[in-house]
Amino acid sequence: MLSLLAFFMAGLSASAQDGERLYVYKFCTTCHGQKGISIAPNYPNLAKQNELYMVNQVKDIIAKKRSSKLTPLMTEHPVVISISDEEIAAIAVHMNSIK
Ligand code: HEC
Repeated sequence: MLSLLAFFMAGLSASAQDGERLYVYKFCTTCHGQKGISIAPNYPNLAKQNELYMVNQVKDIIAKKRSSKLTPLMTEHPVVISISDEEIAAIAVHMNSIK
């Protein structure tokens, strides 16, 4: 049980590091800013956002369940829409951990 917990926690910290890298590689920084403070007043900040909320929003935007005049910025971006559930989760952990 203890080793399973240790394994899980190791997985979590690895995923925060992956998230930092993925946040750049998947072009999120170009709109949401390097530290999660967005580049435009009508783009949302992501720094400190709740992980589960963020995961749900990204999935809904990509699936076009959430749409606005601005969501095409994400849904028409080939790299953004190719993101996996694991990558979204890792980015969300990283954004939530920003100081
Ligand atoms: C080309 C610009 C652009 C890129 C690239 C982009 N986004 Fe967005 N994102 C936006 C805009 C604009 C919105 C707001 C949409 C709206 O108003 O409904 C948004 C919304 C969001 C939201 C919802 C925030 C909230 O408070 O509800 C999340 C989470 C998000 N983006 C994460 C990401 C992630 C993760 C990536 C990288 C994989 C990414 N975005 C790439 C422009 C972008």
